[in-house]
Amino acid sequence: MVRMKKHQKDGYSKKAKKDNYLARSVYKLMELDEKHRLFAPLKSGTLIEFGISPGSWIQYYQEKIGSSVTIIGIDQKPFKAEMRNGVVLTEDILELTAKGLRQHTRGDIVAVISDALPNLTGNRIRDQVNIANLRNAITELTLELLKEGGLFVMKTFYEPELDGWFKRMRKVFEKFYIEKPKASRKESPEVYIVGLGFKGNG
Ligand SMILES: C[S@@+](CC[C@H](N)C(=O)[O-])C[C@H]1O[C@@H](n2cnc3c(N)ncnc32)[C@H](O)[C@@H]1O
Repeated sequence: MVRMKKHQKDGYSKKAKKDNYLARSVYKLMELDEKHRLFAPLKSGTLIEFGISPGSWIQYYQEKIGSSVTIIGIDQKPFKAEMRNGVVLTEDILELTAKGLRQHTRGDIVAVISDALPNLTGNRIRDQVNIANLRNAITELTLELLKEGGLFVMKTFYEPELDGWFKRMRKVFEKFYIEKPKASRKESPEVYIVGLGFKGNG
């Protein structure tokens, strides 16, 4: 309830409504894109988006990527945007396999982006475990699927134990950044990682 009120009052939520975006999260992606030029280079292949619903991110990047890029979105909640070229799978990310995902892809997987986060229970330990499980699942799928040179953007919660994971990510991307966009609430531990130029998983 407190959460709802915060959302309602939030300037980015109002702006999203005014700009016809389905969620305020779009402004985080927009800022990352303006800084790192994530989408303009994508002209073909497949982009996978974990946690795609309701769909504000796709509303934004669909206008930036080439029209022949296929989009595979995954979410358990309803997707409300328009998708020009691709499919939304109503599945639990934790249940996915790289082989299963490949059945839906067309050409190389040139980008993986994720705004997914488990519902928080309020129990710190349980939340940490759930977040780590989702992060690990998305990381492993990405490292297995992504084409060399590919892009990875992912939201997670910052915690000191993440240093090992950051180190691993730094190794497998030409460029690696940890970002806290302005539209991300200061009190939230969420951070976005941006990996550019995947070097391969070997
Ligand atoms: C913050 S929302 C994404 C908002 C989206 N970026 C947008 O702009 O509309 C996070 C999404 O992740 C999804 N999600 C979280 N954990 C998931 C899981 N294990 N499997 C599938 N979807 C999941 C939630 O259902 C939710 O829709």
